[in-house]
Amino acid sequence: MTDKLIIFDTTLRDGEQSPGASMTRDEKLRIARQLERLKVDVIEAGFAASSNGDFEAVQAIALAIKDATICSLSRANDRDISRAAEALKGANSARIHTFIATSPLHMEKKLRMSPEQVFEQAKQSVRFARNLVGDVEFSAEDGYRSEMDFLCRVVEAVIAEGATTINIPDTVGYAIPELYGNFIKTLRERVPNSDKAIWSVHCHNDLGMAVANSLAGVMIGGARQVECTINGLGERAGNCSLEEVVMAIKTRKDYFNLDLNIDIKQIVATSRMVSQTTGFVVQPNKAVVGANAFAHASGIHQDGVLKARDTYEIMRAEDVGWSANKIVLGKLSGRNAFKQRLEDLGVHMESEADINTAFAKFKELADRKSEIFDEDILALVSEESVSQASEQYAFVSLSQHSETGERPYASVVFTVAGKEVKADSDGNGPVDASLKAIESHVQSGAEMVLYSVNAISGSTESQGEVTVRLQNSGRVVNGVGSDPDIVVASAKAYLSALNKLQSKSDRVAAQG
Ligand code: KIV
Ligand code: ZN
Repeated sequence: MTDKLIIFDTTLRDGEQSPGASMTRDEKLRIARQLERLKVDVIEAGFAASSNGDFEAVQAIALAIKDATICSLSRANDRDISRAAEALKGANSARIHTFIATSPLHMEKKLRMSPEQVFEQAKQSVRFARNLVGDVEFSAEDGYRSEMDFLCRVVEAVIAEGATTINIPDTVGYAIPELYGNFIKTLRERVPNSDKAIWSVHCHNDLGMAVANSLAGVMIGGARQVECTINGLGERAGNCSLEEVVMAIKTRKDYFNLDLNIDIKQIVATSRMVSQTTGFVVQPNKAVVGANAFAHASGIHQDGVLKARDTYEIMRAEDVGWSANKIVLGKLSGRNAFKQRLEDLGVHMESEADINTAFAKFKELADRKSEIFDEDILALVSEESVSQASEQYAFVSLSQHSETGERPYASVVFTVAGKEVKADSDGNGPVDASLKAIESHVQSGAEMVLYSVNAISGSTESQGEVTVRLQNSGRVVNGVGSDPDIVVASAKAYLSALNKLQSKSDRVAAQG
């Protein structure tokens, strides 16, 4: 058994399945480049057959990324698998990840297939995929709630057909660490050809145990691949969090004794990029990447840390990239310094013209804000990529009046398909008035299900980053906007969400 643990990142596939976390092709490409810097072993870039957008994203990532294996999910049918193979053409190292549900509940109620039909389809799909690529992962969806005898038969058969990785998901987050670890162990002991494949764990976080279950799958079960996402993003309560699982293995090397490829210095930058791109704010007390993860508030702790850091710190903030939080640029910084900083942050711009546009925005921001942090730059370019992706609505300017005892009033100028319009409204507060003004013109009818403001770099001089989540006809989208003026940031976020609602989605759900 090897002592190397494979880190399989599924932020761009399972993570993106969080309602509202959908990303554009360019956003996914940017995150994939950052995942490459982080040195994950496998990037699950999407589900190529689910939509044209996902196909293009997988294709673009397969062409751009050289150092990681690029993987596409596909249901267990020839059409999905062919589509995945087509999108992966051009990858240095390609993997098809095919799955079918094996639990009695899923087979009967969701698939309406008999166990025998599922068995045959699993075998035939792996055979078909192996004719297209050499690296095929098979997942038994809802594997943890499957019957052991049946699962052993399926797994033995797909390994015989050439599956190189076997993944046993806890699809609904029902597992308990010890039980899940033993489940994987029993499977590996009972499947006669189990040594011909790498075993993988994929845990959801519904009971808050995704990381613990994954680690038990590794230590008790002998799995050597963990599927995880940045910030634990994912359906419902999310997936196993990459940063937590990686730092557990690094910090407790004495216990796990496993090697990882990951460059942990890139963890915080990756977390920020995913959070700013999706609008999913990281809770302050989140392990490793939360703003308070290394902050010592109580006097006793502060005193201890000042005397000897390891009294209260088991990891060093700078080791996971927290030291990147420093003033980097200002008003006098030139285009070259800006370009270099973008590269250091893993932001790749397609053309010089894109850099010029971003630089102009940076200068505009530097005029209003004396210290520009990495977070500001990431916010600025993520806003850039959203507005490039869909240009139906774009912010131009805003004025508003609010005074104690008077009803606030706002007037917003924005473009609709390139044409400038002006809309006015009153509201409960200046933000409410601004968004009502936009809505009075657009008439999207969308319901706002979330509004949140976050200070990007921690002081009142900071930029405000606003996330607006809208829901309309069953679709949920997030819009993100940033500006030193939070009313403007709110208007930008609202317009960005409206742009996303506009773009049609013909997506097929992975677990549908
Ligand atoms: O949770 C799950 O079962 C999945 C599979 C599609 C691998 O995401
Ligand atoms: Zn999943």
